[in-house]
Amino acid sequence: MLKVGFVGWRGMVGSVLMQRMQEDGDFNGIEPVFFTTSQVGQPGPDIGVDVPPLKDAFDIEALKALDVVVTCQGGDYTKPVYKDLRSAGWQGYWIDAASTLRMEDEATIVLDPVNRGVIDAQLAKGAKTFVGGNCTVSLMLMGLGGLFEADMIEWMTSMTYQAASGSGAKHMRELLNQMGTLHDSVGEELKDTSSAILDIDRKVTAAMRSGNFPTENFGAPLAGSLLPWIDSKLDNGQSREEWKGSVETNKILGLDNNPIPIDGLCVRIGAMRSHSQAFTIKLKQDVPLDEIEDRIAKHNEWVKLIPNEKDATNEGLTPAAATGTLQVPVGRLRKLQMGGEYLSAFSVGDQLLWGAAEPLKRMLMILRE
Ligand code: HSE
Repeated sequence: MLKVGFVGWRGMVGSVLMQRMQEDGDFNGIEPVFFTTSQVGQPGPDIGVDVPPLKDAFDIEALKALDVVVTCQGGDYTKPVYKDLRSAGWQGYWIDAASTLRMEDEATIVLDPVNRGVIDAQLAKGAKTFVGGNCTVSLMLMGLGGLFEADMIEWMTSMTYQAASGSGAKHMRELLNQMGTLHDSVGEELKDTSSAILDIDRKVTAAMRSGNFPTENFGAPLAGSLLPWIDSKLDNGQSREEWKGSVETNKILGLDNNPIPIDGLCVRIGAMRSHSQAFTIKLKQDVPLDEIEDRIAKHNEWVKLIPNEKDATNEGLTPAAATGTLQVPVGRLRKLQMGGEYLSAFSVGDQLLWGAAEPLKRMLMILRE
């Protein structure tokens, strides 16, 4: 039985992973050991099977006893511990949510409904390091996997609408505090249906711009606004998040030597935990729309085709609809006015499920097979 150590299981991604593993009975058939950075010796979590007391997440000897480490602890943990553990001769499997190792040659980015072939080939070659992809990349590939599989894409842009959860738990709280502050600034006026909307708007804008507005985490107002920059700047003018869209997609698909050009702008919006993306896709050929829809819908069991109709779109193709589900709705599929080879699409998906925890969970289950 695989002895599996879990690190960072109490954080946001880790908690979602624990919940999903319990839902699917994944703790049966493995020997789970829980690690901590602060509460060594305390009882492990109640997951329906017996677990030993919490062990020290920095104890290389304890980690060395494992067949698999699953970490959602973040890059600051991965950086030193992965290196020390491998240097100590550990040959186990490392499954990681952090981006630290993603682009390393020894790492395989996991998204098995899309790249099971790549994962199996890497396992056969003796690969031991498996990393979850960037959330927008994983969600894009879950939605458009059918088009990539059929090699239909010449190039594409992805314009993102990314939720607060991608920045972390504190940011989600801050978004809600910002929303509450805006509402509070005009609470009385809103009760009076005859109050002037431009007066309300002036007060809301003043609240948003005031020094008291809670922006410690985002650094700027998000509620009632948006932030068209995510992560650090690269020399070519892309944000790191935008860069990941291309390099990670091509690495996941095993196309490093013949990459599909992918670029776009990444934007933070006031959604809680579902990322959305608008795509412009240049097809290699003018393929009929019904064939495109068919390929997208049939690629995997989680993609959900939404008809290009107003009511269906506003009901099913939104963060409000997708959050908390494994479904990846894809819609707004139509040929653009530029010509038959130009396709638009829009997708939504829960950033913590397919965007983070689910590929790691499934990689562990591949190892358990
Ligand atoms: N980098 C992503 C975001 C989340 O900021 O939304 C993690 O993949």
